Amino acid sequence: MKMLITGGAGFIGSNFIRYILSKYSDCRIINLDKLTYAGNLENLSDVESSPNYRFVKGDICDTELVDRILKDGIDAIVHFAAESHVDRSIHDPRIFVKTNVLGTQVLLESAFKFKIDRFIQVSTDEVYGTLGREGSFSESSPLQPNSPYSASKASADLLARAYFETFRVPVIITRCTNNFGPYQFPEKLIPLFITNALFNQSLPIYGDGLYVRDWIYVEDHCKALDIILHQGKVGEIYNIGGGNERTNLEITDLILKRLNKPKSLIKHVKDRPAHDRRYSLDCSKIKAELGWSPDTPFEEGIFRTVEWYVTHQEWWKKVKSGEYLKYYQKHYQLEDPS
Ligand code: NAD
Ligand code: DAU
Repeated sequence: MKMLITGGAGFIGSNFIRYILSKYSDCRIINLDKLTYAGNLENLSDVESSPNYRFVKGDICDTELVDRILKDGIDAIVHFAAESHVDRSIHDPRIFVKTNVLGTQVLLESAFKFKIDRFIQVSTDEVYGTLGREGSFSESSPLQPNSPYSASKASADLLARAYFETFRVPVIITRCTNNFGPYQFPEKLIPLFITNALFNQSLPIYGDGLYVRDWIYVEDHCKALDIILHQGKVGEIYNIGGGNERTNLEITDLILKRLNKPKSLIKHVKDRPAHDRRYSLDCSKIKAELGWSPDTPFEEGIFRTVEWYVTHQEWWKKVKSGEYLKYYQKHYQLEDPS
């Protein structure tokens, strides 16, 4: 199979490329990535010399470039490329619409033109909006996104659905819960708190810290996408979740304990606007129809992740400078990282 992976230099995309290359010797991958602040070719340094892997630097909004890649014969597109951080979408929504909505439309149009066999739209549980204490979202729950990020992802999902209904582009939409693991950009909760705690910097908990996310180890997400790519039914939506609902304070406690750091590092700060209280997915469909379930126990995943950031300080120290610093200096009171 020849695959186009978009956004393969980011967190989940790079884990997915590594997973696919190690599992299939006959799979060829083209990774199309713009290398925004979140894209990093160092995430793929161990696979870049593989004869089955090729990197193309470019924007998914560039129709000519996307057409040129697809013209060469691509069987499947796994579409990760996106602006992915909710906080950034509140500060600057426009780029989220451009990349997440228009970029997805460019890919769908080209997939139609060149008759691609599979188009996996990698989406998120955030499109469903927020829950109270009870219940879970199923694939047929209404879309009620609350942030510019989740609205842009929901819009892209609707375009993907429309390209299936109107043009029969063989689209499958996946909606996953919060991922964690190696190579996650340290603006997201878990890597931010691990890297801050390591240097005794404060951990900014938004509001009361009782917001609930369902956490999944990134490799389990990659396994689900692989199964969906090969066995999923076109036109369908599959929820993917870890079944590990935790409050942000519970996550923080676990990280602090593992690093042997004091709770006094926790600092309650101003809440995120329209902060979704709880996410929870009903994943019975993917379990029953495709036989997938997550393998990594939550605490084991967290410990592996802490260990990875402890042993890869060069990676994240580089990442936590440059554009990251500029952004955080503009929007937050930044502590001296030294
Ligand atoms: P990420 O921010 O780590 O990576 C995004 C990648 O996309 C980067 O390499 C970036 O350079 C690239 N990119 C951005 N704009 C681009 C453009 N215009 N053209 C080409 N490349 C571009 O994101 P992630 O956390 O790995 O998320 C990947 C996908 O999975 C996203 O679509 C996201 O919505 C979805 N998702 C993420 C999670 C999560 O917990 N991280 C959960 C569910 C779904
Ligand atoms: O649910 C899937 C989504 O998970 C993905 O679609 C997004 O791409 C991904 O970024 C993630 O979104 P969240 O907003 O849930 O992730 P984040 O790590 O930003 O925040 C997780 C929780 O932690 C959330 O309740 C906000 C809180 N938080 C986050 C940060 C960065 C804090 O309290 N303090 C922080 O500094």
